[in-house]
Amino acid sequence: MRVAITGAAGHIGREMVSELAQTHEIRLIDRVPIFGHESIVADLAEARVRSFLGPWSKSRSPKWMQAFEGVNVVLHLAADRSPKAAWEKVVQDNIKATWNVCEAAVKHRVPRVVFASSNYAVKALELQLAPACYTRGGPKIASDAAPSPLTPYGISKAVGEITGKTFVAEKRLQSFVAVRIGAFSSNLPENPAWRNLWIGPRDMRTLLRRCIEAQFSGFHVVYGVSGQFTAPYDLSHTCRILSWQPSGCIDSQVCDNAASAYPRDLLRRKRKISRWLLERFSKPSFLRKD
Ligand SMILES: NC(=O)c1ccc[n+]([C@@H]2O[C@H](COP(=O)([O-])OP(=O)(O)OC[C@H]3O[C@@H](n4cnc5c(N)ncnc54)[C@H](O)[C@@H]3O)[C@@H](O)[C@H]2O)c1
Repeated sequence: MRVAITGAAGHIGREMVSELAQTHEIRLIDRVPIFGHESIVADLAEARVRSFLGPWSKSRSPKWMQAFEGVNVVLHLAADRSPKAAWEKVVQDNIKATWNVCEAAVKHRVPRVVFASSNYAVKALELQLAPACYTRGGPKIASDAAPSPLTPYGISKAVGEITGKTFVAEKRLQSFVAVRIGAFSSNLPENPAWRNLWIGPRDMRTLLRRCIEAQFSGFHVVYGVSGQFTAPYDLSHTCRILSWQPSGCIDSQVCDNAASAYPRDLLRRKRKISRWLLERFSKPSFLRKD
């Protein structure tokens, strides 16, 4: 298969380059060069090439789009991944870039886009179900849960998911899978809140590989966590549609501790978010300083 990877210079991108390089023909795109690999350096928010004659030329498409020619799957990882990113930043790097990637995929008849969404796309629902959703047998967030973001970053991921859903509904893409990724790091995080959402490199590699290779069509949401029972997600659709199994929690004692330690930490964060929302939205706009 031919796979185009956007954001290939990033943390997850580098992981996937090494995972797929031996088995697939890969084409790499990022705003920065990728050490040791041939790649296209481009800004995905840029969909048109500045013309010599006029301000913009619609007829010419930038080089990064041409890299989609003959590709079977686009793994779209490029984004500003900071949960605190400003609205202006996510509009460019997340919302516009994802729209352009989908348009370029349609233009070059790429049947599937795999989109790196985030746990922040359903953060409001997670906080609503907390702390019960971090316990074994507690309420979990399923794949059909509608987006419920709290921040500009979360909103940008929700818009990315809706973009893919629209392209599939209009039959412009055969399939689009939004992967609501938890917290990616090589080792189990110290912070209990991150532990509940953790996905390790091995699971990330196998999950995204299945998103690329599994046979399915249409729009799907899957969750990217390592299968620990303290994760707030229901992984049944993820495992079924992808024929995938996460490695599970390595140390159930650690998971138990994480679940019991979470409420205090969560309450602090919940209060902080509520204060911020109150400050931000309780005053009419003409009274706000910004
Ligand atoms: N790392 C996590 O724990 C995590 C959690 C949830 C979701 N995600 C999502 O997964 C994806 C990859 O995450 P990561 O940790 O590898 O992020 P990263 O910041 O390490 O990598 C992102 C890459 O995208 C590139 N990029 C950003 N905007 C671009 C643009 N307009 N044009 C071209 N390239 C651009 C950056 O140069 C960077 O190399 C992101 O979409 C992120 O939102 C990550």
